[in-house]
Amino acid sequence: MYNVREVQKNIWWLGASDRRLELFENVYPVPAGMSYNNYVILDDKTCLMDGIDDAVSRQFLDNLDHVLAGRTLDYMVVQHMEPDHCSCIPELLLRYPEMKIVASQKAIQMIDQFYHIKVDGIAVKEKDTLELGHHTLNFFTAPMVHWPEVIVTFEAATGTLFSADAFGAFGAMSGNIFADEVDWDQDWKSEARRYYVNIVGKYGVQTNALLKKAAALDIKMILPLHGHLWRSDFGKIIDLYTKWATYTPEKNSVAIFYGSVYGNTANAADILAMDLAELGVKDVKVFDVSKTHYSYLLSTAFEYSTLVFASATYNAEIFDHMHTFLTDIKNHNLSGRKVGLIENGSWASMAGKKMTEILGTMKDMTILEPSVKLTSSVDDASRAQLKELATALAK
Ligand code: FEO
Repeated sequence: MYNVREVQKNIWWLGASDRRLELFENVYPVPAGMSYNNYVILDDKTCLMDGIDDAVSRQFLDNLDHVLAGRTLDYMVVQHMEPDHCSCIPELLLRYPEMKIVASQKAIQMIDQFYHIKVDGIAVKEKDTLELGHHTLNFFTAPMVHWPEVIVTFEAATGTLFSADAFGAFGAMSGNIFADEVDWDQDWKSEARRYYVNIVGKYGVQTNALLKKAAALDIKMILPLHGHLWRSDFGKIIDLYTKWATYTPEKNSVAIFYGSVYGNTANAADILAMDLAELGVKDVKVFDVSKTHYSYLLSTAFEYSTLVFASATYNAEIFDHMHTFLTDIKNHNLSGRKVGLIENGSWASMAGKKMTEILGTMKDMTILEPSVKLTSSVDDASRAQLKELATALAK
């Protein structure tokens, strides 16, 4: 049975959610499921804005059939060629053989790469337009937000920005697709951050370029491919994107991440957290990197101004999960953080040296003194170092 909504006269949302999915992109846990949005514009010509993931394609095809109400599909705009939006292209071409695909040249090439179909598509470039009748689509390139072929589309008559992956979030729909029906901070903010940081976070420069293009448009509605549809309060998401894209922390506080084998490094992290609280630092968070998926840790690293990494030495290296996390931070180009270090080693301690090496390859990461050294467990000397580090961090 179809489930569609008219979000603006003659612009229809055809979304579907997958609540069975464990890992989005086979990487990111999605305990609240995942939503996939797409849209249809009904005008002299009919136009589908993007497709959907295989897992919910039956719902999508029912929805599309209902909205078209017997009309054919004239155009499909492919803004992004990732299969969570495109796996339905072969089926659509069978159902609507006259449908023209409108996309960047690179996306048209990717259709062949993924599905071995050579489409006779309309390749669009920056500021190209497509007339549908009363609606005019204006195309803007948005490379690396989140793949190189991406375009976004501004429909001038209604002020609608079809934003592809930008401004999306992890999480299935709960009826809360419209801004005035939802407490966005409560329902979506943390998963919008985790989505941006992990999926797009590496490409801050390119995201900034897109934000600049968006700032020149008279936007009245933002329709992303995942999550909440924005019909008001754009400032909220634009402000956050501006921070995230420039690696500017949202919270001036300390997040402590530890990798501990027998609990002694964890103990040092907890002592430090309590010292910070006593010094008046609010919202200090502590994470076990073996327990919490690194997508959440990375999201917190983007959120916080000051990060502490506490790691046991393992095989003369950084503890494995901490190594993965630090590598992930580096790969996402995080910069401009104050950092504290705690290392532990019962013999031949190496974690501090190796963590410093990774941090040294990143931009504007300031390591505060002292670096705390544990030999197996916290003793009087390392207890004093923790106090000193807390004082330095609290400043
Ligand atoms: Fe929602 Fe980059 O795919």
